[in-house]
Amino acid sequence: MKRLDDFCLRIGKKELVPIVTGGMGVDISTAELSLVSARLGGIGHISDAMVPTVSDRRFNMRFVTEKQKKYKYNFFNRDKSDVQFDLEGLAEATRLHVGRTMEAKRGDGLIFINTMEKLTMNNPRETLRVRLSAAMDGGIDGITLSAGLHLGSLALVQDHPRFRDVKFGIIVSSLRALMLFMRKNARLDRLPDYIIVEGPLAGGHLGFGLDWAQYDLKTIVDEVIRYLAQESLDIPVIPAGGIFTGSDAVKFLEAGAAAVQVATRFTVTCECGLPDKVKQEYFKAREEDIEVNMISPTGYPMRMLKGSPAIGAGIRPNCEAYGYLLDASGNCAYIDAYHRELEKHPDGKNISVMDKTCLCTHMRNFDCWTCGHYTYRLKDTSRQMPDGSYQLLNAEDVFNDYRYSVDHQISLPPA
Ligand SMILES: Cc1cc2nc3c(=O)[nH]c(=O)nc-3n(C[C@H](O)[C@H](O)[C@H](O)COP(=O)(O)O)c2cc1C
Repeated sequence: MKRLDDFCLRIGKKELVPIVTGGMGVDISTAELSLVSARLGGIGHISDAMVPTVSDRRFNMRFVTEKQKKYKYNFFNRDKSDVQFDLEGLAEATRLHVGRTMEAKRGDGLIFINTMEKLTMNNPRETLRVRLSAAMDGGIDGITLSAGLHLGSLALVQDHPRFRDVKFGIIVSSLRALMLFMRKNARLDRLPDYIIVEGPLAGGHLGFGLDWAQYDLKTIVDEVIRYLAQESLDIPVIPAGGIFTGSDAVKFLEAGAAAVQVATRFTVTCECGLPDKVKQEYFKAREEDIEVNMISPTGYPMRMLKGSPAIGAGIRPNCEAYGYLLDASGNCAYIDAYHRELEKHPDGKNISVMDKTCLCTHMRNFDCWTCGHYTYRLKDTSRQMPDGSYQLLNAEDVFNDYRYSVDHQISLPPA
């Protein structure tokens, strides 16, 4: 019986353990978590979601305070078009987050950053260019383009000195999205170094509609592998979403995948950035406590625990401090939803917005409990203590469990 450890992921000349820990914004996949994967010979992701906020917390910086101070005059204004990111500050925050992580890297693995196109930041092209360039300046090993089609993203940084040295990958949820990406980037003579195929059981935003349950990861992965073979393209394919055991992973590798990307099982590790209280919510979750809803202002469906404080909250939009989802004209679907409710309650009290959420503030405060479909199985990966809480896991143990387990067995932490 094969174990994941019997396989090897090759990216360029590099040989790796075929386990990738996925990017989880906002600092849920911390530097510490990514460093464990890299030390053990796999790939770990940090995330570039809301990096100024993350840098403030990690390095005691003041990026958010400065921005908030600058745009204080606009707090009660519905029009947020004035609220821009300082591009030099954004670059500095990204270089810090990436640079310090890379300095701490040990072992033979790699560290990648997950970069979401949907973080349009009231200036989509320039903010994305800055984030990508600064991550390369900071020494990142690879960049995973996510949450968007990224038809123009590579072109933004084609003149960067590390453009052909940094590994670039794309997350897709369909062959169609991959073909579009390949076609658009053909003129750059820069194929992706890896392709992550994310299925409908993943955490975070989904690349499907509310009919997500009609899709299945294996079918999409098979289509992508077949297409690449037809085109004689040798690019590693990495499935993600609902791969819960080492044996789940082995099935994909036996069918031609190069590695797997996993996340949910790491949300209850000590190294994960979620507060311990929230990790316990993930452990306790039952299948019926998890839903896919449309409250993200991005327009993508998102999977989360129904008990997330972000659902139904009616806080004032805080774009002066954050504003990561403002589109090119300074709009965000939450602002509209909030003002619709404010008109019904002009005193500003008891506002509840059910259809959208202020994702920036709630992700920043870990109040949007986004999670993978199999979160309800996390309780089977740990031990319950006499007070009813669950023992947190070590990322190294979870990584090794994926690597060495057979027969869908999950090794529990030492009591
Ligand atoms: C809590 C959480 C947050 C996530 N955040 C992001 C994100 O910010 N960007 C992204 O591209 N994927 C995100 N994902 C998706 C993961 O990177 C990964 O591809 C997927 O969840 C793997 O499936 P699994 O969780 O079933 O193992 C997130 C997943 C989880 C569980």
